[in-house]
Amino acid sequence: MDDTKYKITIVGGGSTWTPGLLKSLCIKKDKLPLRELVLYDIDEKRQEPIGKFAQILFSEENGQVKVIYTTSKEIAYENTDFVFCQIRSGGFKMRELDEKIPLKYGVVGQETCGPGGFAYGLRSIPDMIEIVNDVRKRSKDTWILNYTNPAAIVAFALDKVFPEDKRILNICDQPINLLKSYGKIVNTDYKELQPVYFGLNHFGWFKNLYNKEGVDLAPIIKETILKNGFEPADKEERDQSWLDTYAMVKKILENYPEYLPNTYLQYYLYPEYKVSQLNPNYTRTNEIINGREKKVFLESQRVIDKNTAKGSPLAVNEAHADMIVDLAAAIVNNTNEEFILITRNEGTISNIPDDAMVEVNCAMDKNGPRKFSVGAISTFYKGLIEQQYAYEKLTCEAFFEKSYHKALAALTLNRTVIDGFKAKKILDELIIANKGYWPELL
Ligand code: NAD
Ligand code: G6P
Ligand code: MN
Repeated sequence: MDDTKYKITIVGGGSTWTPGLLKSLCIKKDKLPLRELVLYDIDEKRQEPIGKFAQILFSEENGQVKVIYTTSKEIAYENTDFVFCQIRSGGFKMRELDEKIPLKYGVVGQETCGPGGFAYGLRSIPDMIEIVNDVRKRSKDTWILNYTNPAAIVAFALDKVFPEDKRILNICDQPINLLKSYGKIVNTDYKELQPVYFGLNHFGWFKNLYNKEGVDLAPIIKETILKNGFEPADKEERDQSWLDTYAMVKKILENYPEYLPNTYLQYYLYPEYKVSQLNPNYTRTNEIINGREKKVFLESQRVIDKNTAKGSPLAVNEAHADMIVDLAAAIVNNTNEEFILITRNEGTISNIPDDAMVEVNCAMDKNGPRKFSVGAISTFYKGLIEQQYAYEKLTCEAFFEKSYHKALAALTLNRTVIDGFKAKKILDELIIANKGYWPELL
C-alpha cells in the first residue's frame, strides 16, 4: 500500500451507531489511513454532540485527521473517497408507527420485516436515490457503503435506478453478529469460521461453518443450540427483545433443522406467535429511545463536558462498526477478503431470478465484490425466497409506479400478513401516517 490517505464521509453522522464506527476507524487507522473525516446529518441537534465526541476521540487516538461535522451536502460530498451511509428516514418517530400500526391489526410490527419494513422502505428509497445523485454530482468514483435499512428494499431499488454503478454496496451486520455468537459456542474466534451463507437480506441461512482445518462445525453448533438455547455473543449489551430473538433460533431449528437461520426469519416463520409476544404499546423503538439512543446522547455530552473519551462506553468497536471499516480497507488494500454482502443474483443462486438482490459470500477487492456460486436451492428455501423476492420487487414497483395496487399486492405476499383484508387496512393506515414521505399511491 502507498501512503495515500482517504476522506470518509459518514451520512447519518448523528446515528446511534456512529460512535462505535469512530472507534473502529481509530483502531484500524493503519489499514485505512484517513486525512479527513466528515460527519454529515440533516439534523444539527443530533449531529453536534456526536461531532464533538468525534473530535475529542480523534484528538486522543488519531490526531492527524481533520474531523469536521456539518449539515452541508457540499462539504460532505466534495472529493470524498468513501460514503458510509446510515440514515433513518422519518426517524424513530416514524419507526414507532411502523411497529405499532401493524400490531393494531394483529400483524408483526418490526423495523425491516412485514408492513413496518415496507413503510420504511418507501421512505428510504427516495432519500437514498437523492443521496446517490448528490454524491455522484461531486465525487464520481466514491464508494458508497450503505447500511440504511431496510437494506433489502434499498438495495433492490438502487440496483434498478443505478444498474451500472458498481460502487454502491449494501451491507448488513447480522451475519457477523451471528458468526460471533456461533464462535462462542465452539470456543473459536469468529474470524476463523469460514461460513457458507445464502438468501436475501434478513432472510437467509448458514449452510456450513468450516473451521481452519476444514471441519464443518455447523452440526455441533446446531446440536448445542438445540440442547442449550442460543444467546448473542454480546448479551450483556442487549435489550430483552434481542435476547428473545436469539432464543427463537432454538425453536426454528427444532422445526427446520437443515440450516442455521438468520434471526429475522422468526417473523416470517412464526408471525402469529411473535405477535402474541410483542407489546403493541411498547415496541422496540420505545426500548431504543429509553436505551441505546439515551445512552449515546447522554454519554456524548459527558465526554464533551470532561473533554476526554478515554474509558467511554461509547468508544467501543462492535461488529457493526468493524464490518464497514474492514470492507473499506479490503477495497483500498485490494485484499480479496471474504464478506457476506448484498449483491445482484445473476445466477449465484441458480434457480431464483437473476435480478434478486441476494446476500451471499463474496470476495472483496478494489474492483468490487465477486460472488461465490451457491447453486440450486431446494424447494422449501426456493419457495420462501421467491415469495419474499416478489414482495421486495412489488414494493419497489409500487414506489416507482406510485401504484396502490402493487403496494397492496406486496403486503399480501408478505408472509407476516397473507390476509388481503388485513393488508388493505394496514396499507390504508400507513398511507395516512406516511403522508409527506411516500409518493401518493394511485
Ligand atoms: P438514528 O435515527 O439514530 O440515526 C440516523 C441519522 O440519520 C439521524 O441522525 C438522522 O437525522 C439522519 N438522517 C436522516 N435522514 C437523513 C438524510 N437524508 N441525510 C443525512 N442524514 C439523515 O438511527 P440508527 O438506529 O442509528 O440507525 C441508522 C440506520 O442504520 C438505520 O437505517 C438502521 O436501520 C441502519 N442499520 C442497519 C444495519 C444493517 O444491518 N444494515 C445495522 C444497524 C443499523
Ligand atoms: C441488526 C440488523 C440491522 C438492524 C440492527 C439494529 O444488526 O442487521 O439491520 O438495524 O440489528 O436493530 P435495532 O432494533 O437494535 O435498532
Ligand atoms: Mn441488517
